[in-house]
Amino acid sequence: MLNFDYENRTRIIFGKGKQAMVGELIKPYGNKILFHYGGESIKKSGLYDEVRSALEAAGVSYVELGGVKPNPRLSLVREGIRICREEGIDFILAVGGGSVIDSAKAIALGVLYDGDIWDYFLTKKPAGKVLDLATILTLPATGSESSDSVVISQEETQLKMGYHSDKIRPVFSIMNPELYFTLPKNQIANGVCDMMSHILERYFTTTVKADVTDGLCESTLKAIMKNALILNRNHKDYDAWAEVAFAGTIAHNGLLGLGRAQDWACHKMEHELSAIYDVAHGAGLAVLTPSWMRYVYKTNINMFVQFAVNVMGVEGTYRDPDAIVNEGIDRLERFFITIGLPITLRELGMDDSNLELMAKKATWYSDGKETPVGGFQKLSWKDILEIYK
Ligand code: NZQ
Ligand code: ZN
Repeated sequence: MLNFDYENRTRIIFGKGKQAMVGELIKPYGNKILFHYGGESIKKSGLYDEVRSALEAAGVSYVELGGVKPNPRLSLVREGIRICREEGIDFILAVGGGSVIDSAKAIALGVLYDGDIWDYFLTKKPAGKVLDLATILTLPATGSESSDSVVISQEETQLKMGYHSDKIRPVFSIMNPELYFTLPKNQIANGVCDMMSHILERYFTTTVKADVTDGLCESTLKAIMKNALILNRNHKDYDAWAEVAFAGTIAHNGLLGLGRAQDWACHKMEHELSAIYDVAHGAGLAVLTPSWMRYVYKTNINMFVQFAVNVMGVEGTYRDPDAIVNEGIDRLERFFITIGLPITLRELGMDDSNLELMAKKATWYSDGKETPVGGFQKLSWKDILEIYK
């Protein structure tokens, strides 16, 4: 096991009706807040009115900024920063999925910073003073409700970039499984794939011994798949949502990766797809993950045998390891198909025209120099091109 130093400040308030507490929960943190959200979904579900009532009942004054789009844009982040400065905002409440939360995180990072917010994403320099934020999660998927990460797209350059800091972990997140009943089937599937990927990116490792997190990863993956199949039949099953939502948070709050080397190639490769084609993150991951697995598994075949047997339930006694691994990957792909995910780039509406460009962007390829991607197996742009193909 590798050394680690772990702290996660996010308080998770989980269960039915918990969004009614939001005003009282915010009071110790903020005098005037930014209420940040996306499109129409929270208005249709009634959550928008509930939040406003809870804030008003608690005497919390707020300014609204809606309009966050999936794959959140830098332009709206800049607008949010301007509003916060002009209005003297001291706390941000994000109500939505990963895109709204990430937009809120980037605003929180930028309000008290003298320079341009995009600097953080380009240079990865340590965060300065940051506004506190909280969330009401409406889409279990990204884990952003408790993660140290934020991902933002810059429209003009078609760059989608991430940034990490413990300072942008929300101070609290409210998760009520009933809020997920309105999600359409494709968003449920995208979310399931994203949280599974957050675990797989940590699970496939070159670290020789990490039994505790191996087991946590495996049991969380199995719980997600079991309950995703229930949601596939009944998208209003509270208990199944509770399991999936809880899993989505621990999948990306850092816990499952402690003490182990991690990979993250699939995420890097996927961000290039969303940057150019604006595809849903989870759907892109469903296409890339099985292909990545087939390309790299020989780097540590035992790890992939373990995955096939312990997670995908492949019979592992006296069999050829390659056959076990391939059956495990095939089963994962079939699971994705069952819940309605795409498994080819064509299904995402993409052709072959930008594959080389995306592979080079992923590795920052320029004049023969590049930064290989992935901790499990280092991938050059040529490897990535093969995986895309
Ligand atoms: O905009 P509205 O109307 O709210 O609709 C949203 C949006 O169209 C809808 N939705 C959300 N909750 C709903 C709902 N519809 C009905 N009922 C509800 N309860 O779902 C659509 C997608 O929302 P979005 O927030 O874009 O999805 P997701 O949560 O998957 O977030 C994706 C973004 O997060 C980034 C991704 O790259 C992508 O930009 N990620 C962030 C991470 C992090 N910060 O830790 C880690 C991830 O790996 C990921 O990269
Ligand atoms: Zn992800």
